[in-house]
Amino acid sequence: MLELTDVRKSFGDRLLFSGIGLALSAGEYIAILGDSGAGKSTLLNVIAGLEPADGGSIRFQGQELTALDDDELTRLRREHFGFIFQAFHVLPHLTVAQNVALPLGLRGVARDEATRRANEAVASVGLAGREGSAPRELSGGELQRVAIARALVGNPRLVLADEPTGNLDPDNARQVLALFSTQVKQHGAAAILVTHSDAAAATADRRYRITRTGLQALR
Ligand SMILES: Nc1ncnc2c1ncn2[C@@H]1O[C@H](COP(=O)(O)OP(=O)(O)OP(=O)(O)O)[C@@H](O)[C@H]1O
Ligand SMILES: [Mg+2]
Repeated sequence: MLELTDVRKSFGDRLLFSGIGLALSAGEYIAILGDSGAGKSTLLNVIAGLEPADGGSIRFQGQELTALDDDELTRLRREHFGFIFQAFHVLPHLTVAQNVALPLGLRGVARDEATRRANEAVASVGLAGREGSAPRELSGGELQRVAIARALVGNPRLVLADEPTGNLDPDNARQVLALFSTQVKQHGAAAILVTHSDAAAATADRRYRITRTGLQALR
């Protein structure tokens, strides 16, 4: 479903990574480990087309993403990708349900239908009854569950998760990760989790370490 070949990225004359190769099948959940500054967030941005690659090939469902223009990439992201960001990125002026419904609105799903599906997604992450709450009324773990619901509400084929438990205590982190892995499996989505946490990576089907010369498979 997703195939990366020899992907390379530099900022200025500083090479961040090269030789990145990866094959991800539908429904597979992998983790990519790396220290702070190793390029994990950048790799997700490159896969999503938010940041251009300097070389190599990125194929998604047979389509070469590096050949698409910005409009085509935006459309593809809205249709097929779900995102969970390193910082929460839950919009403070919207309710929980409105935050979750955002990806559907961007796709042009009618408001009633979007609300119905958002409420379902909110319930599926254990937050039934909090649909109308403002984000500031939620804990860090609850906010990250909102982010999971929002990433999955549109049934994306690929979920890109950037350190989704970085701001949580270990107990909460465990719960959020368990929820994340069961939700991506239930949706049949493929997922890439980037993290510096071995415990977080342990929830994935396979693990890699990002290095300057490529992805190294871990056992
Ligand atoms: N737009 C940019 N311009 C220049 N340098 C950048 C840019 N984005 C990231 N970098 C640099 O690239 C390196 C990798 O950044 P990245 O955010 O991908 O790391 P990371 O592995 O996600 O780290 P962390 O675990 O701290 O989130 C860092 O040194 C960063 O300063
Ligand atoms: Mg990062």
